[in-house]
Amino acid sequence: MTSQPLSATKQAVFERFSRHVSSGKAAFFLQTGIPLVFGKREGPYIWDIDGDKRLIDCHCNGGVYNLGHRHPEIISTLVEAASRLDIGNHHFVSMEKAALAEALADVSPGNLECVVFGVSGGEAIDTAIKIARKATGRKGVISAAGGYHGHTGLALAAGDPKFKAPFLSDSSDFLQVPFNDAAALEAAVDKNTAAVVLETIPATLGMPMPVEDYYRKVKQCCEKNGTLLIIDEVQAGLGRTGRFWGIEHYGIVPDMIVSAKGLGGGIYPVTATIIRKDLEFVFHDDPFIHVSTTGGADIGCVVARKVIEISAAPSFLENVNQLAGIFAGGMAEIAREFPGLFTGFRQNGLMCGIQTADPGYGPLMSKACYDAGLLCIYAGNDPSVLQFLPPLITEKETAEEILTRLHEAFSITQNFINA
Ligand SMILES: Cc1ncc(COP(=O)(O)O)c(C=O)c1O
Repeated sequence: MTSQPLSATKQAVFERFSRHVSSGKAAFFLQTGIPLVFGKREGPYIWDIDGDKRLIDCHCNGGVYNLGHRHPEIISTLVEAASRLDIGNHHFVSMEKAALAEALADVSPGNLECVVFGVSGGEAIDTAIKIARKATGRKGVISAAGGYHGHTGLALAAGDPKFKAPFLSDSSDFLQVPFNDAAALEAAVDKNTAAVVLETIPATLGMPMPVEDYYRKVKQCCEKNGTLLIIDEVQAGLGRTGRFWGIEHYGIVPDMIVSAKGLGGGIYPVTATIIRKDLEFVFHDDPFIHVSTTGGADIGCVVARKVIEISAAPSFLENVNQLAGIFAGGMAEIAREFPGLFTGFRQNGLMCGIQTADPGYGPLMSKACYDAGLLCIYAGNDPSVLQFLPPLITEKETAEEILTRLHEAFSITQNFINA
């Protein structure tokens, strides 16, 4: 695998970043041979700051770039909004917040009709857990082992021990059970459980696909115990799976859906905790017990409404499904050529994981992809899986190019392993 000396420009960025932002991160990317510094970005592409390396972004920052980079309609919406708005004042009633909440209610199933806004996915999960606790008067929260919901307070506590232990965030109120194991969940949920929180398809766990009937059993278990079901759609939502929400594939309506990342179109951060209408009472008597100054900024709400308008269009979702078919076929061919390396393709629409035979291979493939002109990163909690999240606006020719580059990355990795 190749490693070239850094240009003077890049060297300077790495030094400043290391000095003032994160010495660990700078060292990590130098050691792994992926010294990427984002320069120009457009559509499915990003260019290294030196301008000489173009990558197709199949990482998409977990869905932030569902619409590609700098989608022209998103940019023009932002520019128009900036000509007349600012972030607003979150204490007051806002036309833009009302309009975005209404748009989210329109695309959400059942009586998921009210929205609490935030800035980050972690904040939106924190909000969901707060609502569940206040609504039920219980403290317990159950999540999936190896799942990921962010690094803020309650989201962190619902996450992996390796992230919470360093910050002394452990609490016996938070339990984890294996994903896809309905019996384990049923054994863990009791009358003290306020919420079960699950990613529809756990991305950091390597995209295991929900088994038949898993969500129906989860929902039944929650209903039986008076526990609220929070579905984290931070990565699976907004059309990624070929339906607007990923959970729509699994025949249930949760009590809350959390949306973040791509909701801001990669341009203006906005997140949403979408809740059942009858849960809104938790804020009725004192609507100021939970606020967020920049959550649901007026200007961001306008941007997010455009994101929904684009992503909920039937032709947009149809394109996602067609691309999913192209990738399914192409991946099967590549897998046949590299049987000891590429062992399975996990897929729901364009939410995909490339399963390899060894936890060491995901990191190798990430570097090989970089060398072959693709940005693809392994799953943090299962490094045998390469996360594969191409932009939803990918055109068919680009999809073919992605497959060609992926094939090259497999060849590079296979040669490296054989050497
Ligand atoms: C599934 C999921 N939930 C929540 C989060 C947290 O989002 P944020 O980083 O915006 O706090 C992430 C971030 O990667 C995520 O992937």
